[in-house]
Amino acid sequence: MKTQVVIIGAGPAGLLLGHLLRQANVDALIVERQSRAHVEGRIRAGVLEDTTTNLLRRLGLDERLQREGLPHTGFSLADGGRLIRIDVLKHTGRPVTVYGQTEVTQDLIKAAPERGIDILWEASDVALHDVDTAAPYVTFQEGGNARRIDARFVAGCDGFHGPSRKAVPASAGKHFERVYPFGWLGILADVPPCNDELIYANHPRGFALASMRSPTRSRYYVQVSMDERVEDWPDDRLWNELETRLGAEVAPHITRGPALEKSIAPLRSYVFEPMRHGSLFLAGDAAHIVPPTGAKGLNLAASDVAYLSDALIEYFRDGKTGGIDAYSERALARVWKSERFSWQLTKLMHRFPDDGPFERRMQVAELEYIASSDAAQKSIAENYVGLPLQADVARRCQ
Ligand code: APR
Ligand code: PHB
Repeated sequence: MKTQVVIIGAGPAGLLLGHLLRQANVDALIVERQSRAHVEGRIRAGVLEDTTTNLLRRLGLDERLQREGLPHTGFSLADGGRLIRIDVLKHTGRPVTVYGQTEVTQDLIKAAPERGIDILWEASDVALHDVDTAAPYVTFQEGGNARRIDARFVAGCDGFHGPSRKAVPASAGKHFERVYPFGWLGILADVPPCNDELIYANHPRGFALASMRSPTRSRYYVQVSMDERVEDWPDDRLWNELETRLGAEVAPHITRGPALEKSIAPLRSYVFEPMRHGSLFLAGDAAHIVPPTGAKGLNLAASDVAYLSDALIEYFRDGKTGGIDAYSERALARVWKSERFSWQLTKLMHRFPDDGPFERRMQVAELEYIASSDAAQKSIAENYVGLPLQADVARRCQ
């Protein structure tokens, strides 16, 4: 098989990239390890920046998002039972939209056939070849048959554990990592949310987050130590912990119900540089990971793809290489600012096992400062709604 861009991974990054390239008549083909049902069943993030919703609107794939997405004008930080509301609309003029990554993925997969996007599901042993040449290719097993796709470029959208990043020679790349000494235990339940907006809580027993997917479906998280297992957390224990950590004002509004999904995710900050090696481009979790505190993971995948699709379209339409040559630097500029915000909010809102009284005083002082300073709230707000894309790319992504 031959195509112009072979995309590895049918997560948000790969699917968005496939759609944006096809919309510009660039041939692309997506190779995915899992089944369609597995990918569509993943429970992941839930807050979209307008960077991301603009891409869906530009693709004409935002009909369900418009119908079911929940526009949010703010969120709260809770500490010691006090709620500090960050009014993102007042400070930035922009809202965020609560709409599950699961839904985004389903919408993009459903529209793929009508848009001429081939997704090869359940491909195994995916391997990248000759990425440092102008004629790279990808091999894999599909239905027991050995397959090969030749392309001009390879887009590594295969997440943190995929093969693409590992195809960059160790001497050509460097990585930066911080692994946090805790994880997030998440629960999804068909119960009404406890609050109209998200609440991030710092409690002596640890962090908690009250989020949602719809007026009838809630998503909650609690910080847990890395030796905890889901089996240690029957639903009732988790509901009790959420009531304790979210505080006396919120607890009476928490509706309990059976878990539709319950899992523990580790937290890490990670960046791999560069995000391009020869004919290979990395996008999304393949290149970087953020702790979910800042709701940046999905939105960074989208901004990487906004830059990458713009660059690849320019190359195939005009034969220019300015965009692809600038991709890594442009994408990393936004990635590192999002990494900083996610790291800072994680430090502010979690209890670290090795922290002492001084570190706790720093958290109290910072929350006091945020509560009393418009400038501090504006800073948090502009990072939460998403920092602007490079102006020229932003215009094309509207
Ligand atoms: N071959 C083919 N596909 C692969 C391989 C492989 N060897 N390894 C991984 N994949 C697929 C995964 O099955 C997944 O569908 O690549 C896709 C990567 O998707 P994500 O991990 O969702 O990464 P990305 O598209 O960058 O989106 C980032 O997803 O996981 C969340 O928190 C993350 O919200 C963030 C968003
Ligand atoms: C979610 O709803 O899953 C969610 C929301 C905000 C975050 C992280 C996760 O910061």
